[in-house]
Amino acid sequence: MGAKPFHLGLFLQGSSVQAWGEPWTGRIGETWMVPEFFVDVARALERACFDYVLLEDSSYVGESYAGSREIYLRNGIAVPRQDPSVVATLMIASTSRIGIVPTFATFAYHPYLLARLMATLDQVSSGRAGWNMVTGSSDYAARNFGLDGMPEHDLRYEMADEYMEVVNQLWDSWEPGAIVADKVGGVLIDHTKVRQIDFRGKYYASRGPLNSGPAPQGRPVIAQAGGSPRGRRFAATHADTIVASIKGADRMRGYRDDVRAHMQAQGRDPDRCKVLFLVQPIIAATREDALELKARRAKRVLEQADRRLAFLGKLTNIDFAQFDLDAPVADLTTNGHQQTLDDFKRKAAGKTLREAIAAYNSDGGSVDLAGSPDEVAAQMEEAMQQAGGDGFLLTLPDLTRRSIAEVEDGLVPALQRRGLVRSAYTYKQFRDNLLEF
Ligand SMILES: Cc1cc2nc3c(=O)[nH]c(=O)nc-3n(C[C@H](O)[C@H](O)[C@H](O)COP(=O)(O)O)c2cc1C
Repeated sequence: MGAKPFHLGLFLQGSSVQAWGEPWTGRIGETWMVPEFFVDVARALERACFDYVLLEDSSYVGESYAGSREIYLRNGIAVPRQDPSVVATLMIASTSRIGIVPTFATFAYHPYLLARLMATLDQVSSGRAGWNMVTGSSDYAARNFGLDGMPEHDLRYEMADEYMEVVNQLWDSWEPGAIVADKVGGVLIDHTKVRQIDFRGKYYASRGPLNSGPAPQGRPVIAQAGGSPRGRRFAATHADTIVASIKGADRMRGYRDDVRAHMQAQGRDPDRCKVLFLVQPIIAATREDALELKARRAKRVLEQADRRLAFLGKLTNIDFAQFDLDAPVADLTTNGHQQTLDDFKRKAAGKTLREAIAAYNSDGGSVDLAGSPDEVAAQMEEAMQQAGGDGFLLTLPDLTRRSIAEVEDGLVPALQRRGLVRSAYTYKQFRDNLLEF
């Protein structure tokens, strides 16, 4: 490869019904419950040599629009949603090289349970497990776990810092070489290399050692998406890969520079964390077809303003049904996803709520990508040159076998021809492939 290649991941919106109501979904309304679709996605993207599939998650039924669950249930917005650990396991079982990254929220999983679960996933995948590390942000989700609500935004990150300390200590509670498996001597494990941790912090406590045994990668690959200043600091401390939804090449560059500066300040090598920017490419046979598709999508977004606002409300804990769609956007604050709301507010300047959500949902993510496979490949190359990032996390507005084929058989070969992505995995383990370039 000539130019420095970049990394690719897929953002899978939960183990959930995908693209409900859209063409090309087959019988998704009935077949979402069984794993073939998710397994097909993982296998296709492994053939395309993606670094990873990230399985997004939340653990509640949306209720942020008009104080009702109706719009979420009627339209299958992030519901039904299966436990990502199960689907991740099935994806692992049907692949051999790609990284599989389920999401688990720190408020929902005790650190011991999480450390054990992730070590197990890393073991059964022979070192291909990642963890999308989120704090959770919804009071509805908190209430499903018997809490009154979520802690305040920055406090969540402070708690998560301590959480990371516990899980890292648990993963380190087995020293390298602890498993001797000496048949002749009759020793399976060297007991001197397995230690309790006796962690007692402000928010969490755990005695250890971890009973699952060690993770092949030492610890799973950690993915994180902190966008706020506090979130960025957190991600810079812990993440192996950051997934960022940052709009525009200048801001992308600024974001990555900021994260890298934080890493340097903490004594971490900035090259040990790969920043992938969220993009939503529109790929078609020709540029004209892609632009037509883009226009059709923009029209559909406008028609579905309430659904799109319901989804945004789920992320930001704001009930947008209280506002007039055709009035200017009110001044908004959130204890939910701050970066998301900031991006929306930037788009909303001088627009009505309807126009704002249409504009927010119609752009292509961090950069606009639309055209033939080769044109989109060229646009990605240019964006990486301008922003200096490490790659892209693709999100497909209609995730179907058809759109996955457009990526596997159209976009990726075009990227490979330009030497921009890998054509074969070099290593067996996920982190090694991620840090290769
Ligand atoms: C690409 C991407 C994926 C995310 N996946 C999840 C997820 O699966 N579950 C979740 O609760 N939050 C998820 N988030 C939200 C982040 O964890 C975080 O709350 C959000 O980026 C806002 O961070 P901030 O409040 O520091 O700005 C994701 C964010 C991004 C950009």
